[in-house]
Amino acid sequence: MQITILTGAGISAESGLGTFRDREGLWSQVNLEDVATPEGFARDPAKVHAFYNHRREGLLAACPNAAHEALARLGRALGRQLILVTQNIDDLHERAGSPSVIHMHGELLSALCDHCDHRWHREAPMSVEDSCTACAKTGGVRPDVVWFGEMPYRMDEISEHLVKSDLFVAIGTSGQVYPAAGFVAEAKLAGARTIEINLEQTDHSGVFDRHILGPASKVVPSWVEEVLGQG
Ligand code: OAD
Repeated sequence: MQITILTGAGISAESGLGTFRDREGLWSQVNLEDVATPEGFARDPAKVHAFYNHRREGLLAACPNAAHEALARLGRALGRQLILVTQNIDDLHERAGSPSVIHMHGELLSALCDHCDHRWHREAPMSVEDSCTACAKTGGVRPDVVWFGEMPYRMDEISEHLVKSDLFVAIGTSGQVYPAAGFVAEAKLAGARTIEINLEQTDHSGVFDRHILGPASKVVPSWVEEVLGQG
């Protein structure tokens, strides 16, 4: 059986990382256009760096929770039969031990040079004075994250996996942001069964065949045990 899992901010909520669209979510605290668009970065790069520096600091202090750990167990058991795609820019799936993760919205601990497209691991705060570790130019170093108006990473590869899936599972995502929000329909069209795992119903719940409601740290481990028990 081929399984594709899509995770969103809800899987990392119990690790202390905020979600985006809940009442206290990130997008109720900051203006998305200022910090998550190429135009916002062009207008005020120092403000954008400060925003991601703060999130990077939060990430370095956070730990994976039982949901990340359960998916890592599933990944080790299923090997290439499991494709894990995340919209999250944190590295909690990797730290929990997931063998392979597709970060469609980029990674907070990665820097990208706009001049030469070089990428490198970066934990320290970024600033407008930073220079690229490959081409040495300044003024082009940015967080390696996908902003609104930019193309998410590895889309062709994700589509290939979706059409081959027997089961598609969305965990902790509100389904508000495309193209990820369209994955369930894509997988379904190709014949996959679909499961939504979330704290509560979402606007897209009607599209899924099955719903598992509850906090990810509780319900994801139970679902993983169920899948492993069937094997
Ligand atoms: P959202 O904040 O839109 O949705 C988070 C979802 O997680 C909601 O449906 C919650 O009900 C659910 N949730 C919260 N706590 C949970 C818990 N403990 N267990 C299970 N579910 C829980 O976050 P995303 O859907 O990930 O993109 O957002 C998608 C994209 O929008 C992000 O990748 C980001 C954002 O703008 C970019 O910045 C490009």
